[in-house]
Amino acid sequence: MLKPSFSDLVKNSPILPVLHMESIEEAVHVSRALYKGGITCAEIVLRSPVALDCIKAVRKQVPEMTVGVGTLTTPKQVIDSVAAGAQFLVSPSLTRTLATAMIKTGLPMLPGTVSPSEITQALELGITEVKFFPAEQYGGIKTIKALASVFSQVKFCPTGGVSLDNLGEYFANDSIFAVGGSWMVPKDLIANKDWDAITLLSEQAIAAIHKLGRCA
Ligand code: 3PG
Repeated sequence: MLKPSFSDLVKNSPILPVLHMESIEEAVHVSRALYKGGITCAEIVLRSPVALDCIKAVRKQVPEMTVGVGTLTTPKQVIDSVAAGAQFLVSPSLTRTLATAMIKTGLPMLPGTVSPSEITQALELGITEVKFFPAEQYGGIKTIKALASVFSQVKFCPTGGVSLDNLGEYFANDSIFAVGGSWMVPKDLIANKDWDAITLLSEQAIAAIHKLGRCA
């Protein structure tokens, strides 16, 4: 396993909220709301022009939150994200070039895989913790179980289509170390600046995972 490991980072709150932020103000409020609800890590995805500025702002204004970057697809994005202060790195994909750049930073990293060949490529690079993305579209827990029976050393963070309704199915399997998703940060709540509702959804998610005995 690479060190620092990704699973260590999220062991107290094994949920990785996927944040698509349109403004710094939004990112700061959402991060505070998630943290208040017990979620201690947040992944800000590089799908908006202000994503790197949001990472910088959250580092400064919400220092209690561990903030990382998501949707990495190029080594340059890795460098820029580290410069902005990202504390962990997530990608929807895995190539040797990209994963090597991610490993080089020394930060916890999580590349995306869905197939045996991609997992084998991860193992060749010493990576044993992967994002399974997009989870539901690629067969969800059924596919993960099949992969885990072959790759018993690999741990998964399914992301895509995970919600309060199905996270129990995922956490019932030992090969799952965390789940990712955006269900606790729905667009309408952000548009209405309903930060308390985001805190409530976060509390519900953490309570459900506690109940399953999967928070450290
Ligand atoms: C993403 O990268 O957008 C994540 O997969 C989030 O998926 P979700 O919105 O289905 O949780």
